[in-house]
Amino acid sequence: MNIINQIKEATDFIKTIYKEKPQVGIVLGSGLGNLSTNIEVEVEIDYNKIPHFPISTVKGHSGKLIFGKMNGKKVAAMAGRFHYYEGYSAQQVVFPIRVLKMLGIETLLISNAAGAMNTSFKVGDLMIINDHISLFTVNPLLGENCDELGPRFPDMSEPYKKDLINKVKSIAFKLNIPLKEGVYAGVTGPTFETRAEYKLLHIVGGDAVGMSTVQEVIAAAHIGLPVFAISIITDIGIREDDNIITHEEVLQAAKDAEPKLTAIFKQLISEL
Ligand code: HPA
Repeated sequence: MNIINQIKEATDFIKTIYKEKPQVGIVLGSGLGNLSTNIEVEVEIDYNKIPHFPISTVKGHSGKLIFGKMNGKKVAAMAGRFHYYEGYSAQQVVFPIRVLKMLGIETLLISNAAGAMNTSFKVGDLMIINDHISLFTVNPLLGENCDELGPRFPDMSEPYKKDLINKVKSIAFKLNIPLKEGVYAGVTGPTFETRAEYKLLHIVGGDAVGMSTVQEVIAAAHIGLPVFAISIITDIGIREDDNIITHEEVLQAAKDAEPKLTAIFKQLISEL
């Protein structure tokens, strides 16, 4: 079955359960699932019930779509996302983004955990993503283009919308939450980077690195969906000491910083 029909089947299935049109889509990154406790939940649908949806396996991700209200707005939140390193194709990774768009969302908010190359960043910092480097992972638009979704050669001059970034800056200022801003380098993982790789990613212009997000943002740009994305810095890649990086510390750092992220997302959603 071609991709557009798969998206339609998944969308039609969801509409039999949740009849309303969500306005905002939210992708909850590693250790950030707690944000969903701020949603007045109306319907939850396990990924494994939805036709053509891959199934999330990674620790810290529960794997369901949550529909409900946040600050009065209808939202659809992905609790758990699909990563290329889990063995899914890049097309499978972005499938839910396309379904959310077909359900009617007008804005996509993305969160993730990331390691820092920018030496002014500390664990627990929030970094607005203002651009990305996707050359170290696999482009989800490889293969025959689906013209119904978007153009063969999408423009990527502003994948992270400036007006949303500016809104968040003024929200964070009012809430007294300090923010960093920078370029997110997308990699496949699942290894964390070697010291030499963190250095390389810094030299080519990356401020933070992670194993998600860039494919989702490419699919969103293709389909004409405005994105705001933010990283929680969970570990420092370029560092003097000889400590190691573990998944547990990444999850813990994300969890600790999560209230700041939730406060920003809540306010942003109310202003959309
Ligand atoms: N590298 C890649 N992905 C990550 C990291 C990192 O250091 N931290 C959290 N996700």
